Amino acid sequence: MKERIISSIRPIYKEQSPKLYIETYGCQMNVNDSEIVAAIMQKAGYSITRDIGEANVVLINTCSVRDNAEQRVMGRIEQFGAEKKKRPSLNIGIIGCMAERLKERLLENRIVDLVAGPDAYRELPKLLETTASGQQGINVLLSRDETYSGISPVRLDKTGVSAYISIMRGCNNVCAFCVVPYTRGAERSRPPGTILDEVRELADNGYREITLLGQNVNSYRSEEMNFSRLLAAVARAASGMRVRFSTSHPKDMGVDVLETIAGYDNICNSIHLPVQSGSTAMLQKMNRKYTRDEYLQKIEKIREVIPDCSISTDIIAGFCGETLDDHRHTLSLMETAAFDAAFMFKYSERPNTRAARHFSDDVPENEKIRRLTEIIDLQSRLSLASHAKEYGQTVEVLVEDVSKRSENDLCGRTPQNKTVIFPKNHYRAGDLVKVKITEYTQATLKGETV
Ligand code: 5AD
Ligand code: SF4
Repeated sequence: MKERIISSIRPIYKEQSPKLYIETYGCQMNVNDSEIVAAIMQKAGYSITRDIGEANVVLINTCSVRDNAEQRVMGRIEQFGAEKKKRPSLNIGIIGCMAERLKERLLENRIVDLVAGPDAYRELPKLLETTASGQQGINVLLSRDETYSGISPVRLDKTGVSAYISIMRGCNNVCAFCVVPYTRGAERSRPPGTILDEVRELADNGYREITLLGQNVNSYRSEEMNFSRLLAAVARAASGMRVRFSTSHPKDMGVDVLETIAGYDNICNSIHLPVQSGSTAMLQKMNRKYTRDEYLQKIEKIREVIPDCSISTDIIAGFCGETLDDHRHTLSLMETAAFDAAFMFKYSERPNTRAARHFSDDVPENEKIRRLTEIIDLQSRLSLASHAKEYGQTVEVLVEDVSKRSENDLCGRTPQNKTVIFPKNHYRAGDLVKVKITEYTQATLKGETV
């Protein structure tokens, strides 16, 4: 049956370049990985399409960090299966973290033709040759040194304002709840020269903002430099562009990085510093390697060195054994830290992690939801208070796009990563605009250009 399918693909592949459709789930790192995949595939003769209807190959770049992220992709695979019934020549590949975690199990449904883990993207064209000869293809080998340096990502976001640069891959921390070290492998840093080349290329192409990405950027280390020195070198190479970075692990966030942020005007005063819990007992069980007090001391230090820095965080509700007291500690830490923004989740047990192997996922589902709701409600208040401080102020906005709500408005962000909506006038994406804030909600600021 499969042999016959392939004979129908081959003539198309010969006449014109085959078309690739990529769909991305999960973190910023995955967004950038899809751009690396697009570059590899373009080099192999594929063209990128935004229309599934004309695609010869569909790649789904997946996330395993929580169960609901995986369930969404499973649903999507079923939908692509229906499409494939209509068009049997369609090749479907699963790449990214779910590919690494579930491996050949993803091939069992006979919908998926190809499975490639995060370190196997250079092999994609070869794997697609395998599927074109009627077999299923799989490569889930993790690497100690793959950083995809030397590959210029094909920017899939067409606004041309803001771009991601991955400076490292993998993670060497073993946070008990987290599946990432298993799906993305050991930590490795990309040589600084290739990072700086990419910065200059983006500057030449008119980009106005770059975000350096890694699971834990503060542990970046190459032969030549650590993260604060890399950040300074990037800031110098990116003059005229804004520089951001994510994610920072509190245990590795040193004063040298804070001083570098304070020392360069174009490094945005905004830090994402996931706390996960406000209870020292939970933090220890999570293997985060800092206490509540140590985290709060870092926050104080940030406020001292960079007074107008915004701080965002990640929080998990209902981790194994979390008591009401632990939960209250999280709420009180949030108040003390006065986070500007937060990503908040209920704990989702991931197979084979330390927590899954050693602890019982014992906070009942409805109680997890209740605690998460309390956390979200509190953060809504804190975000509103953070936005209230901007009322009447004039802020500098990098315009990113037309507002989703209205064609007559533009949207962009302040250096503190706050979203601002304002009337379009003659402004365009990529402009730096001074906006006076006249309205706010917990989600956005609104204003008038001055
Ligand atoms: N359950 C819930 N949230 C998780 N995160 C990571 N693993 C899990 C899990 N098993 C959250 C953490 C992390 C963010 C990227 O996702 O808060 O910082
Ligand atoms: Fe996961 Fe912890 Fe690594 Fe972040 S630092 S990717 S939470 S193991």
